[in-house]
Amino acid sequence: MDKFTSPGWAYWIGGVTIVSLIGLFLFLRATARQTVFRDRNGHVIATTGHVWDGDLQEFNNPLPRWWMGLFILTLVFAVGYLVLYPGLAFFPGTLGFTSARMYQHESSAYEARIAPIYAKYNAMPVDQLAKDPAAMATGQRLFLTYCAQCHGSDAGGSRGFPNLTSQDPKNWLYGDSGALLEQTITNGRDGMMPPMAAAIGQANVPAVANYVRSLSGLGHDAALAAKGAPLFAQACAACHSVGGTGNQMLGAPDLASKTRHWLFGSSLEAIEHTIEHGHSGHMPAQAKHLEAEKIHVLAAYIFGLAHGEKVGAGD
Ligand code: HEC
Ligand code: HEC
Repeated sequence: MDKFTSPGWAYWIGGVTIVSLIGLFLFLRATARQTVFRDRNGHVIATTGHVWDGDLQEFNNPLPRWWMGLFILTLVFAVGYLVLYPGLAFFPGTLGFTSARMYQHESSAYEARIAPIYAKYNAMPVDQLAKDPAAMATGQRLFLTYCAQCHGSDAGGSRGFPNLTSQDPKNWLYGDSGALLEQTITNGRDGMMPPMAAAIGQANVPAVANYVRSLSGLGHDAALAAKGAPLFAQACAACHSVGGTGNQMLGAPDLASKTRHWLFGSSLEAIEHTIEHGHSGHMPAQAKHLEAEKIHVLAAYIFGLAHGEKVGAGD
């Protein structure tokens, strides 16, 4: 903070605080004593001698005792506070209190409370954990916090973001086993579909696109598809496999599936666009900001979605 403000301000405010406290104390002491007023002849009078409107007089009463007591208490509190806590210029206070330390204390207390729960979850294999309603509820909360902004709150995916609820293992880009899910979430994934128009020839893009549509039984031009088939085998099968059934090692989707969520659309135009321009999907690694225990619970949550476990029943 010193970088932005001059330390002079801290000393100035500290000085004003000390002078105010001393001033208040002296002022209280002065008013605590009853001053005796006398008239011209030397007789003691009960009023201060001030008169307004002809007959309004100010009586000379000391402050009530309880009122004084409260004032003194606030003074004592202020001095005590300034001795114990940081408040005066750069004096740190005798308790050594800092807000950072308090935060640390509270968050480690929280961690200590939930650590045994996560330790229990961590000891369970993903498929077993996916059957635990309380763990699934925790997984759902984690998912809504860390994943839903990309994958949707129902994990159904959208353009460019895969559906994480498919119960057909072949529809998964990288696989739906517990170990693979944990790997995907921990390290992230990068799916790379290169632009392919140059490799197959720009004029052949519609033929290959028609062949791709034929693989999953979508409407297509049979003659064009037949022309595209050998081109596909030559330029695409290295990643998408023969017959377009995909390769989970590369994250190359199964183009023959009838139930898969298309990342970039299944219309002829969309497929032609993908072939011409390629696509790269980036799933960010979560290990940087999520503990392994939380990733384990998240993997179980996704596993539950992929295997039809009842989710969120523990709430
Ligand atoms: C910034 C957006 C983003 C966030 C946040 C994100 N993902 Fe992803 N995720 C993606 C993209 C994009 C892909 C597809 C990668 C590809 O195209 O190869 C993906 C892929 C996946 C896959 C692989 C799916 C398959 O078919 O194999 C899983 C599992 C997954 N994400 C889980 C999660 C979980 C769990 C979280 C939260 C911890 C999460 N993701 C957070 C963008 C995101
Ligand atoms: C280097 C490997 C590689 C090659 C070669 C390749 N692809 Fe792909 N393809 C991928 C990957 C990986 C993805 C997923 C991209 C992503 O995750 O963003 C993909 C995605 C696609 C998609 C989008 C699917 C969807 O769900 O929207 C289509 C269509 C496609 N490829 C067709 C082809 C065709 C046709 C060829 C040959 C002309 C081809 N690919 C060549 C790796 C490849």
